Amino acid sequence: MFDSASPGGSTPPEPPPRTGGRAVPPSPPWEQATLDLLTRGTLEVEGRLVDASNATLYCTIKTGRPDPRPEISPKINRAKETKNPKNARRQQATIACVYKPIAGERPLWDFPAGTLAGREVAAYAVSRAAGWDVVPPTVMRDGPFGPGMCQLWIDYDTGVDLIALARRTDHAGLRDMAVFDAVVNNADRKIGHLLPVPGGHLYGCDHGVCFAEDYKLRTVLWQWRGKGLPRRSVEALRRLNAELTGGSLGAELSGLLAASEIDATRIRVETLLKHRVHPYPPEDWPAVPWPPI
Ligand SMILES: Nc1ncnc2c1ncn2[C@@H]1O[C@H](COP(=O)(O)OP(=O)(O)OP(=O)(O)O)[C@@H](O)[C@H]1O
Ligand SMILES: [Mg+2]
Repeated sequence: MFDSASPGGSTPPEPPPRTGGRAVPPSPPWEQATLDLLTRGTLEVEGRLVDASNATLYCTIKTGRPDPRPEISPKINRAKETKNPKNARRQQATIACVYKPIAGERPLWDFPAGTLAGREVAAYAVSRAAGWDVVPPTVMRDGPFGPGMCQLWIDYDTGVDLIALARRTDHAGLRDMAVFDAVVNNADRKIGHLLPVPGGHLYGCDHGVCFAEDYKLRTVLWQWRGKGLPRRSVEALRRLNAELTGGSLGAELSGLLAASEIDATRIRVETLLKHRVHPYPPEDWPAVPWPPI
């Protein structure tokens, strides 16, 4: 992975200095409102994503009451506007989401059964704590097919050429995603998992096969391998380190991942902070997912 001191190896790297990275930015109000809806709203299953290998269900959630706010989320599909105040009172905001019930997870040889949904929620927690905001709001909840993960559906910009996007070297959000993937040890960063939204922000999806203890980074984003991390990445990693060692992130992750997987995550963060370079492809593991799209 790195020139030396592989994360998860038997010799832990020296801990980085406690430089006190900047505080984690608070969640914007729309994000908290979205998390509340994802957690408590009634899920209506609209269909199954046919290409997905797991049971990945496209759902909607209605707020169940008129929404007084002008806009609670840039991603929420507002009900049709009406000029009639009686109808306006009946307006319901609707959000779309992906629901992946644990019961529908395809068994994998290299991840314990029934753990993929928790890994997706953990990926969101890490992205938030670092301030990357590369994972759409994601929660664990009960649903029509039992407990599972529920993630905000992102209406991504279909005008963007995803193959060209994945090859860019000048896209700060894409580079954030590459560092995020190194932290969570993402074994499945495909081009189709990139969700660019109008305005330039980039989200990613499908983080079920993250947080393995062994180095399994498998991604289409190798363009920065061996290159020095930009300052913004170092700052994000410091925030993450502070949250993992003295903040609340460790406790949040403990309900979602094994203790050894949280330790391995902390070691990956420390190693990235120590070497300050993007990792190299693993030598004993396919470095690019197949198919890459
Ligand atoms: N939150 C989301 N917003 C928008 N699109 C999404 C979201 N989550 C998933 N998708 C779309 O649905 C597709 C399938 O979802 P996902 O990759 O998470 O399922 P999966 O069962 O893990 O599939 P596979 O293992 O085949 O990659 C994604 O490639 C993406 O196009
Ligand atoms: Mg996928």
